Amino acid sequence: MPSVTEILDTMEYGTAPESNAHAAEWLKAHAKGFGHFINGAFTKAGKTFDVANPANGQTLARVSQGSAADVDAAVKAARKSFATWSKLSGHERAKHLYAIARIIQKRERFLSVLETMDNGKPIRESRDIDIPLVARHFYHHAGWAELIADEFPGHQPVGVCGQIIPWNFPLLMLAWKIAPALAAGNTVVLKPAEFTPLTALAFAEICREAGLPPGVVNIVTGDGATGAAIVDHPQVDKIAFTGSTDVGRLIRKATAGSGKKLSLELGGKSPFIVHEDADLDAAVEGVVDAVWFNQGQVCCAGSRILVQEGVAPRFLAKLRRRMQTLRVGDPLDKSIDMGAIVDAIQLKRITEIVEKGRAEGGTLLQTDCELPTAGNWFAPSIFTDVEPSSTVMDVEIFGPVAAMMTFRTPEEAVQIANHTRYGLAATVWSENINLALDTAARVKAGVVWINATNLFDAAAGFGGYRESGFGREGGREGMCEYLVPAWEAALKPVAQAKPAPLSALPPESVEAPAIDRTAKLYIGGKQARPDAGYSYCVYGTKGKSIGQAGLGNRKDIRNAVEAAAKASGWSSATAHNRAQVLYYIAENLSSRAEGFTTRLRSMGQSAREAKVEVEASLARIFWYAAQADKYDGRVHNTKSRHVTLAMNEPWGVMGLVCPDEMPLLGFVSLVMPAIAMGNRVVVVPSARQPLAATDLYQVFDTSDVPGGVVNIVTGERDELAKTLAEHDEVAALWYFGPGVKAVEAASAGNLKATWASAKPRDWLSRTQGQGSEYLRRAVQVKNIWVPYGE
Ligand code: NAI
Repeated sequence: MPSVTEILDTMEYGTAPESNAHAAEWLKAHAKGFGHFINGAFTKAGKTFDVANPANGQTLARVSQGSAADVDAAVKAARKSFATWSKLSGHERAKHLYAIARIIQKRERFLSVLETMDNGKPIRESRDIDIPLVARHFYHHAGWAELIADEFPGHQPVGVCGQIIPWNFPLLMLAWKIAPALAAGNTVVLKPAEFTPLTALAFAEICREAGLPPGVVNIVTGDGATGAAIVDHPQVDKIAFTGSTDVGRLIRKATAGSGKKLSLELGGKSPFIVHEDADLDAAVEGVVDAVWFNQGQVCCAGSRILVQEGVAPRFLAKLRRRMQTLRVGDPLDKSIDMGAIVDAIQLKRITEIVEKGRAEGGTLLQTDCELPTAGNWFAPSIFTDVEPSSTVMDVEIFGPVAAMMTFRTPEEAVQIANHTRYGLAATVWSENINLALDTAARVKAGVVWINATNLFDAAAGFGGYRESGFGREGGREGMCEYLVPAWEAALKPVAQAKPAPLSALPPESVEAPAIDRTAKLYIGGKQARPDAGYSYCVYGTKGKSIGQAGLGNRKDIRNAVEAAAKASGWSSATAHNRAQVLYYIAENLSSRAEGFTTRLRSMGQSAREAKVEVEASLARIFWYAAQADKYDGRVHNTKSRHVTLAMNEPWGVMGLVCPDEMPLLGFVSLVMPAIAMGNRVVVVPSARQPLAATDLYQVFDTSDVPGGVVNIVTGERDELAKTLAEHDEVAALWYFGPGVKAVEAASAGNLKATWASAKPRDWLSRTQGQGSEYLRRAVQVKNIWVPYGE
């Protein structure tokens, strides 16, 4: 044993192993293999697979591979218990969640050790971060259960939730999924990742101990096939998934048209921006937390380090020095910084991407630390000499590897930061609050940390922009994913006959000799002829022709999207300005009310019906004009000395596909909330009755609506909707019509958020046709964490 003087000389760490006796005993007791947890009891182990300790390769347990029949049994148990669990008072449900939180807290040590053995993450992290956050989530959501009727009036639980989680934060991801689901009154079937199912099984025991009614939580273990069986099960009402973007895309396609609610938390390639006035030492510590936390197997890892040119050499020198001090090794050692990679498969993936990075000319800097021989290990690494399009700057490595490049101006930093398909998180380092907040506002990411990184709390929403998925987990935003407005849940499908296709009139018949009665498209604030030159006849009462409308095609949609993309000034206009424009639209529509009433009558409506629709449309525009500067964000109570700003940001370009019925009101009901919140829209109006919408061109022209904010393409609805759904520049799509399945499937390309329904609603009703659900769906929430204090 070295003497004290020797230790002071070398400053060598000794080992500080955490005992795993308790976890080992628990595993021994289950040596025969784990079954699934269904209806409050464990099934007998069936066909099993081995679960290994990534730090030494030793088998820890045998776990059952869930079959379709196991999933079916779990879903049935969840369905049965939903009847009673959803009817319990919020207070009763809160007691259960609270009891679970208490037991987790009591078992913190056991759970931390088990998590570390199963996943390979350092005990320091599972003990200080993962498991305390798990308890925090259950406490926080016990609170939501208590308050549900007051805070979410008129909402109800979704039903049976299928939840599929990854291996990087096994118990924490379980908590993020199960706590809000239960608080809202849902029941769940959860599948942990095949590499790391053990803490989920320990959690099942905790549910039993806490006296949770059987069937409320069901846990089925297995691989992707088991996950797919959950996704495909017809009695599952919602899928919540965290994992790779590829599987997220598969799930989007598989659930298309099923009516299942969906939230996806997917991959990322998050920028870590260091401005020249940053506290460089703090930023270097930030890299340690951003890239080497959990061996870099973190969806929001700040793995694209962007440093301002002037300070880059100094920053890199400090970073290299700090890197060398990282200790990699036995994750159960309390003084270890970085543990093992979860599995040999993941190690291979990391190695391959790193090799590609080198082949492309990147310089790989790695620590000289000695890695253990058994198990899966990768040294902390940084790539330099890379470009924005280099593989290592572009693809999610999901390992302890970052890539670093420089930028010259803050403008360029934002440009590089947004040069990605993802948008999960971002980190900004600057001592200048103006610059930091400006960067935070312009970066496209669901979470932005200023002068800190990887901060999480149950009270703040977490989730991505773009191909990082949609939906939020945590806090009020997260609760919305597990609730549905009661009116929406009560809508009934109605069998709709497929209408005959619109018959195209060739270009030569478009111009009638005396007057041109063909309504054109409206793109970029100007009337535009359809690309192909075709139009179609619009029929009114008794099949009489009342005019012609342009038959738009893919090219017209693309032009409209381009115009909408260019009109980005609208999204940064003040809410007051937007409100003024909406009021102006209402005024101008009001002065033309008679013309619109006549138009609706020509379509076959009675005088009364037409008057009611015009008046309701006017009232709706006023309502959204009033909301423009009122539907705002929040400040979440998260960590001490932090404000966490939950900002409602517009999606950018939205596609809106109107219902066939109520041609004016349907249009207004979709367009007004979207533009009030700052989106620019491409609208496909009622295909059979587009003329009420095309009559609005003049209203928009005279109401100071900037060109490109509202773009209108008439034509065959489902064809145009598909092009909108496939378009990468369109960030969100609302669709009201029978073709939900095709639209949702086509939206998988860039994983745009969709709100699609084939169930007719009463557009005249203030509950069904207007309200906060429309506003909520017109924005995405960005959580910006701002620390304060010296
Ligand atoms: P994955 O996406 O395949 O696995 C995540 C979960 O989905 C697991 O529970 C898995 O069993 C399940 N799953 C797989 N295929 C499924 C299917 N067709 N239907 C339903 N469920 C299915 O992730 P994997 O293969 O473990 O890791 C691959 C890459 O994904 C990583 O290198 C990383 O880049 C990324 N990843 C991202 C995560 C995140 O938190 N965003 C978490 C895990 C992985």
